[in-house]
Amino acid sequence: MSQEALFSPIKIGSKTAPNRIVINSMECCDALDNGDPSPKTYERYENLFKGQPGVIIGEAITPQYDHISREHQLSIKEHNVPALKKFVAHLKEINPDVIYMPQVTHSGEISHPRFSSRIRVTEEPLPGYENSTLVREKEIEQVIQDYVDGARRCYEIGADGVDLKLCHGYLGTQILRPYNKDNWKYGGAWENRRQFAIDVYDRVREAVPDENFLIGSKISVYEGFPGGVGTLNANSACMDLTETIDLVQQLEKHGMQWVLQSAGSPSHTLDLAHPDKKSADYAYMHFYFQKVLRDALKPETVVMGSGYTIYRDGNVKVGGNKKAFQAVLPENNSVRFWGNKNINDGVVDAISIGRQSFADQFTPQKMMENRDKEIKWCTLCDHCVELLIQQYNVGCATYDKRYTEIYKQMVKETGGINEKHT
Ligand SMILES: Cc1cc2nc3c(=O)[nH]c(=O)nc-3n(C[C@H](O)[C@H](O)[C@H](O)COP(=O)(O)O)c2cc1C
Ligand code: SF4
Repeated sequence: MSQEALFSPIKIGSKTAPNRIVINSMECCDALDNGDPSPKTYERYENLFKGQPGVIIGEAITPQYDHISREHQLSIKEHNVPALKKFVAHLKEINPDVIYMPQVTHSGEISHPRFSSRIRVTEEPLPGYENSTLVREKEIEQVIQDYVDGARRCYEIGADGVDLKLCHGYLGTQILRPYNKDNWKYGGAWENRRQFAIDVYDRVREAVPDENFLIGSKISVYEGFPGGVGTLNANSACMDLTETIDLVQQLEKHGMQWVLQSAGSPSHTLDLAHPDKKSADYAYMHFYFQKVLRDALKPETVVMGSGYTIYRDGNVKVGGNKKAFQAVLPENNSVRFWGNKNINDGVVDAISIGRQSFADQFTPQKMMENRDKEIKWCTLCDHCVELLIQQYNVGCATYDKRYTEIYKQMVKETGGINEKHT
């Protein structure tokens, strides 16, 4: 057994994750028509549980059908509870040690206009989202209730906790942004904007008073466009993390036991959210965001970091033999190197893998057993992102032939994509 920091256990609230590799939340558009897990969903999670990560943040799951961005998204409404209970029990039988927490989401203005409706919280729409309806307290009260119902059902189905999603440009983020500038209950002054997340946390804990049920959020620390989360004001792109720091400190006071750092918004600033080999250096910014959260929070609040897939085994090529990263030796630039170093340096407590968990669901186990040579490293081709954008079933189109075929079919039917944003 490895003695590396990555493979040491970590306490999250009253539970203990056996190691510090987290599977990031990855939606795959393959639920049954009623939102229950399909055979494809089962297969994916069965492999992930067998692959021995410490934590799995379940993919985005919706507690309502009016404002969604994926046509075949998993849902967590009352009718899904029996199927989800069976799903979780089955996975826990495979590996009872993994901490499993689904991500409850609401899409707001980035709902898909083809099959859903967009709502926004600003008089002046964010450019590109003019086809949305302005909502206020009444509708947002329903959104909070949806988050609470979704979280309560996560408890009922036997999940270890919940990710109350506050990242990647979804509704929780839309409310936090300086761009949410009108003066209303959850808009204008920072104290109003942060109150939405605080109310969600308070009401979720009230609905599930069991402290063994872990509450946390994936948070975009800086969205990277004017008026986005982590900017100076509604019209500025200048990074200012004062509000983000206050947010996590407030949420910690209201019961947050863990936070999963992210950045960017795949609908607007995709490369910041999913570091890409053409702009590989962006990935280092995630380390800074992790440290900002780590420094702001109590030691017992667990900080998990995103954006680690790009480091692979240290060999990242843009094309041909051209290296994506300069000024660093490959052996000092792998996911294993940075995971261990960042944990040892107090930058972060655990690291997550997103796309790498598609490329090889057994990555944690292989790393733990020093079988790195057997790992199928993600090539960062982003074909899986293209499948997601086009609403096809998602998987690794490089290493899994079934998804290579779906990818080819997608290109044939749609002509592929011109712009890479969700
Ligand atoms: C196909 C696909 C689906 C994703 N689904 C989600 C999701 O459901 N929720 C979420 O917060 N992030 C989602 N993400 C973002 C990832 O969780 C992660 O933040 C991002 O890929 C960066 O991590 P990586 O560099 O390890 O891939 C998705 C990314 C991809 C490529
Ligand atoms: S499709 Fe490409 S980017 Fe996506 S997981 Fe596979 S190798 Fe990685």
